Amino acid sequence: MDELNNQVIGNQTDNGLIENESKNNDLKIDDEKIKIEDVKANKNLRILTGDRPTGRLHIGHYFGSLKSRVELQDKCETFIEVADVQALTDNFNNPDKVKQNVSQIVMDYLSVGIDPNKATILLQSRIPEIAELTVFYSNLVTIARLQRNPTVKTEIAQKRDLFGESVTYGFLGYPVSQAADITAFDASLVPVGEDQLPLIEQCREIVRKFNSIYGDTLKEPVAVMSEKGRIKGLDGNEKMGKSLGNALYLSDDLNTINEKVMGALTDPARIKKDDPGNPDICMVYYYHKLFSDENTCKNVCEECKKGLRGCVACKKQLIENINKELEPIREKRHYYENNPKEVMDILMSGTAHAREKAKETMEKVKKAMKLDY
Ligand code: TRP
Ligand code: SF4
Repeated sequence: MDELNNQVIGNQTDNGLIENESKNNDLKIDDEKIKIEDVKANKNLRILTGDRPTGRLHIGHYFGSLKSRVELQDKCETFIEVADVQALTDNFNNPDKVKQNVSQIVMDYLSVGIDPNKATILLQSRIPEIAELTVFYSNLVTIARLQRNPTVKTEIAQKRDLFGESVTYGFLGYPVSQAADITAFDASLVPVGEDQLPLIEQCREIVRKFNSIYGDTLKEPVAVMSEKGRIKGLDGNEKMGKSLGNALYLSDDLNTINEKVMGALTDPARIKKDDPGNPDICMVYYYHKLFSDENTCKNVCEECKKGLRGCVACKKQLIENINKELEPIREKRHYYENNPKEVMDILMSGTAHAREKAKETMEKVKKAMKLDY
């Protein structure tokens, strides 16, 4: 990792980075993944992340990715893609859902502090170059390799209701389209959760194959892992999700937060207030660690273990701290809910800016592939 830092810092000082020739090796990041704290401020480094617009964002997204994006937008050039075309790969029968969630997700971004003056928010379907690249890249990937992708494999198994025994060409191929997302904007860094690593790996393979056949053109992206892993649901489930009914949404109002936290899983062995508890198996304590200060957490833990703390009071204190964090987000969200045109304007102007980058990539790709008529 030290080596990486030196290289990135080195590039910063010699400043020969990217400039006219944006070939990957200018960067010399050899690692395939790095930690978020290893990303040094460097406006010459472009970051690309994205989400499928299939639902509102929740606390899992907030701690898992949104907070780090807010930090990264000050360090690197940040692009955030609303991946509506990818969302259709497993929601092709529900275009209304995808459409409605496009503006919802942009509102979530803006309300947590993603700043359109710093970061570019873009809409995938408005960048036809991504679709074009997907077609070109599809020659560089075998069907067997796609079928072996662990993320795709898991998702296909989870989506039996939709796909039955036979998955669509579009869904099986979405890693190819995601490689197009990343390379279209010449991104160096891709902040993602653990589950997305196989997709970045597949993108790197496509890039290497492309460069070996058509000449050095594309950049191999590096995955950036956030320090917080997946956030558990209020019911203790490893995953937080809409279908599981265990998520706290950024758009939840006071009453909803209240109800959800009151129903959270606590130490089931605790019946009376003076029963000694085990905070380590309690979701309320787990959430205190996300929302409350260190001192509060220490008190919760000690008092619970000694039987000096009631679960209801403990939950109330958590609700208060959650609301402290969410209130400014909610306020901003209300503003954007009342100004939907502003939201779409931000998305469309970000898209126009991003498309310029995609066009530059397209030109290089077509030249390399001898399609530059
Ligand atoms: N597959 C990602 C997810 O489900 C979303 C996504 C689409 C993405 N395109 C991307 C993530 C490009 C990173 C880079 O969360
Ligand atoms: Fe959980 Fe708090 Fe009850 Fe302990 S007192 S079991 S930490 S809710």
